[in-house]
Amino acid sequence: MFGLKSTLKALVCGALLLASVSAQDSAPNVAISAEFPNAIAGLTPNIVSGEANSVKVTFKNTGKTDLKVNLIVGTVAESDDYNNIIRNLTAYKYGTTLKADGTLILPYSIKMEHASREVGLTLMADLIDSNKNHFPVLVYNSTVNFTEPVQSWIDLQLIFLYILIAGIFAAIGMFIKDAMAPETKKTVKKTPAMTPEEREAALEKMKVLDEDWIPEHHKKSPRVVKRRA
Ligand SMILES: *[C@@H]1O[C@H](CO)[C@@H](O)[C@H](O)[C@H]1NC(C)=O
Ligand SMILES: *[C@@H]1O[C@H](CO)[C@@H](O)[C@H](O)[C@H]1NC(C)=O
Ligand SMILES: *[C@@H]1O[C@H](CO)[C@@H](O)[C@H](O)[C@H]1NC(C)=O
Repeated sequence: MFGLKSTLKALVCGALLLASVSAQDSAPNVAISAEFPNAIAGLTPNIVSGEANSVKVTFKNTGKTDLKVNLIVGTVAESDDYNNIIRNLTAYKYGTTLKADGTLILPYSIKMEHASREVGLTLMADLIDSNKNHFPVLVYNSTVNFTEPVQSWIDLQLIFLYILIAGIFAAIGMFIKDAMAPETKKTVKKTPAMTPEEREAALEKMKVLDEDWIPEHHKKSPRVVKRRA
């Protein structure tokens, strides 16, 4: 009797367990979007050749169970045939928990050299549920446009470097000049200032010179007369 009871219990438990497993084995309810931070809305996103291009991947778990984002991986293919793969992109491992009813934002980075033209980009994520089942989910599948890095930016950096070097040399030059000629500076400082009398005399001399330019009839102004008196 006792044995039968426990066997029944085990069967029921097993059935419950099986039921829960099959319920959780169904594809996870996750909404995924990928965006290129530098892309202009409505236009094909640009990928700069040879530079690290970041992609912001957003996962929204609308299900009732926690999931884990294991990794994101991608391929670059011919835009007219996505099966014609040009390059397998680096797989980034995250192992981050995506809570039930939660949102998770993860960064992905694409760094690859390619001639400027359109290609097909496919990004996939590997999700793991609580029973260690793996679910490959599509993150991005559309055309992107490879472009050359902006040359003028490099030129600008070079110009700044030249200005910096010129500034350093100018500073060194001034330092050497100061260090080698301290006497010159002192003599300049020692130049005696004009006494008020000397200044008056100099001004008077200038006035005399100035008056040579003044026509005769103007010199006989009341002011001049008054001064001479
Ligand atoms: C990309 O990876 C797949 C599977 O690992 C492989 O068959 C294929 O040759 C790779 N393609 C390139 C272009 O490396
Ligand atoms: C991605 O898009 C291309 C072109 O529209 C299509 O041929 C391909 O089947 C898509 N891949 C997936 C995994 O949906
Ligand atoms: C892709 O980039 C090239 C050069 O950078 C440009 O001429 C072309 O118009 C771009 N195409 C799209 C669809 O944005």
